[in-house]
Amino acid sequence: MSSTGIEVDLQEIFQRYTFDNVCFLVLGFDPKCLSIEFPQLAHAKAFDQMEQSVFYRHVVPEICWKLQRWLQIGEEKKLSIAWKFYDEFLYQCISSKREEITRNKAQKMEEANFDLLTACIELEQEGGGEMDGSTKSNKFLRDMAFFLIGAGRDTISSGLTWFLWLVATHPSLEAKILQEMREHLLVNNEINWDMKEISKLVYLHAAICESLRLFPPIPFEHLYSIDSDVLPSGHPIGPHTKILYSPYAMGRTESIWGKDFLEFKPERWISEKGKIVHVPSYKFITFNAGPRTCLGKDMSFIQMKIVASTIIWNYCLRVVEAHPVLPKISIVLHMRHGLKVRVTKRDH
Ligand code: HEM
Repeated sequence: MSSTGIEVDLQEIFQRYTFDNVCFLVLGFDPKCLSIEFPQLAHAKAFDQMEQSVFYRHVVPEICWKLQRWLQIGEEKKLSIAWKFYDEFLYQCISSKREEITRNKAQKMEEANFDLLTACIELEQEGGGEMDGSTKSNKFLRDMAFFLIGAGRDTISSGLTWFLWLVATHPSLEAKILQEMREHLLVNNEINWDMKEISKLVYLHAAICESLRLFPPIPFEHLYSIDSDVLPSGHPIGPHTKILYSPYAMGRTESIWGKDFLEFKPERWISEKGKIVHVPSYKFITFNAGPRTCLGKDMSFIQMKIVASTIIWNYCLRVVEAHPVLPKISIVLHMRHGLKVRVTKRDH
């Protein structure tokens, strides 16, 4: 892209990258969405369709989508088709993985890679759980894989897209990150791409937190009470009550973040001693809080830091002139028109 000077949609690149990445982590299978030809993969598209249909269920009255589901028309019909297709893809991955494990065991071969599916199946074979290769166990594995792919794909790609847009539009942010990298990672004129070293970059961490505050990948959450309860704020909740809360709105609330709540200010995350300020997760709600806090939080920071620092060090990003950057109304905070940029190789 940098040698030809053509524009590229960074959001699409990140979606392809995170889909490959999370499929490899969960299923041990690399769909290679990020290959240079940009293949249109049916299972990635099916996932997008499911996301769109789930959002639709949030905006139309329940009776409407339930009727559509019963009649198998409109958005609900699309959801059923995508769902069936995706299930078949996951069941196929599960049965191939079972065969591979049995074959490797018979040939006494060591596992080459780690993936969560292999770990779960091996646990089942050691008799460590209820899973016995039955329909129930395959369904459990399917649900686990489906959930983790959903949790790890669009969240990180959304986080990276908004962060790199901020980098591309705030020259001082870009300069400070580069300076921090020079100070901490440069050894004999070469960057030390060690994960532990990258994790120590305070300014980069603060800037990512600030970006996730203003642009939380999950902009709203939807909960449903089974029984009556009282919220920590003292508000009573009746049984069968829907509660919506919005990390997007909470990240932009003056009473939570102060007068400068709309400003992009990584400094608010850094103490006078140059350390990261601890902000309670009930305030910085992007990863949820309490017992249902995101399990991928640390992994997301590591991944975002590695990807962002590698790109920033090697390339200069410029948003294509007049490209409109707006949030898409969806269950994930995507950019409505993608993020069109031009990249140029950086000389150090
Ligand atoms: C920037 C990236 C991410 C953000 C903003 C994010 C956000 C969230 C949020 C808001 C929840 C709460 C959902 C709810 O209870 O309704 C959640 C839960 C969860 N996330 Fe993440 N997530 C991110 C990345 C990841 C990754 C990479 C993984 C792992 C592959 C992951 C795994 C999970 C899991 C397993 C839960 C369920 C925790 C539970 O209910 O016990 N997340 N995440």
